[in-house]
Amino acid sequence: MTVERELAAAVQAVGQRLAGWTPGIAMVLGSGLGALADEIREPVTIPFSEIPGLVPTHVAGHAGRLVAGELRGARVLAFAGRLHLYEGHSPSRIVLPVRLAAALGATRLLVTNAAGGIRRTFRPGTLMLIRDHINLAFCSPLAGPVLPGEARFPDMSAPYDAELAQAMREASRARGVSLEEGVYAWLRGPSYETPAEVRMLERLGADAVGMSTVPEVIVAVARGMRVCGVSCITNAAAGYGAPLDHEGVLEVTARVREEFAALVKSWVESVV
Ligand code: HPA
Repeated sequence: MTVERELAAAVQAVGQRLAGWTPGIAMVLGSGLGALADEIREPVTIPFSEIPGLVPTHVAGHAGRLVAGELRGARVLAFAGRLHLYEGHSPSRIVLPVRLAAALGATRLLVTNAAGGIRRTFRPGTLMLIRDHINLAFCSPLAGPVLPGEARFPDMSAPYDAELAQAMREASRARGVSLEEGVYAWLRGPSYETPAEVRMLERLGADAVGMSTVPEVIVAVARGMRVCGVSCITNAAAGYGAPLDHEGVLEVTARVREEFAALVKSWVESVV
């Protein structure tokens, strides 16, 4: 099926369940960060398996459900879990949630993820506002025919919206949650980086590294959505000392869950 037809089928299936309700803010909740979706009020929950094109995710820490409803006065469409290139999905498949959210009416997108800390002052549990990114997966979800409503050559000079970023900084101050800022590098994975790759990333100007998020941001920009991003630094990058594993990543996201939720709820309240 073409990307456009798959999207139309997904919009039809989800639109039917939402019965005229439209979202204002879409959220992609990364590894271990999906619990925030439980705080959505009057939720309509749709497992990915019931959305055409959105195959269930098999990655631990990714629930694989869409939750629509109210969060702090905002109409929120939250994807608890995401698809990744390393699961064997095509770049266009992994961005279906963003296209779906945009087609349903969402104009803003919050992307979140677990990431390795390249900047040496980052500690497990540090939250980082994504100021910019580097695409080191060397592919684009926009390759192929241009979808209606998308730009062929999106301008990436400011992919992360200045006002939404400022609102996140203010939310962090208001809630007493510390928030760093930096550049996120996208690699395909699924193996973690080698120490030599981490040294390369540091020289390239990356502050954090992960296996997601950038494709979603590219599509959101192509559709004219306003984007904000937050990484949860779950570990010091490879070669800085401790060995890496996914269980450790999830332990840290569980530890910062409350802080992360408080930050995002406060942000939602101010941008609603
Ligand atoms: N590298 C890549 N992806 C990650 C990491 C990492 O160190 N930690 C969490 N996701």
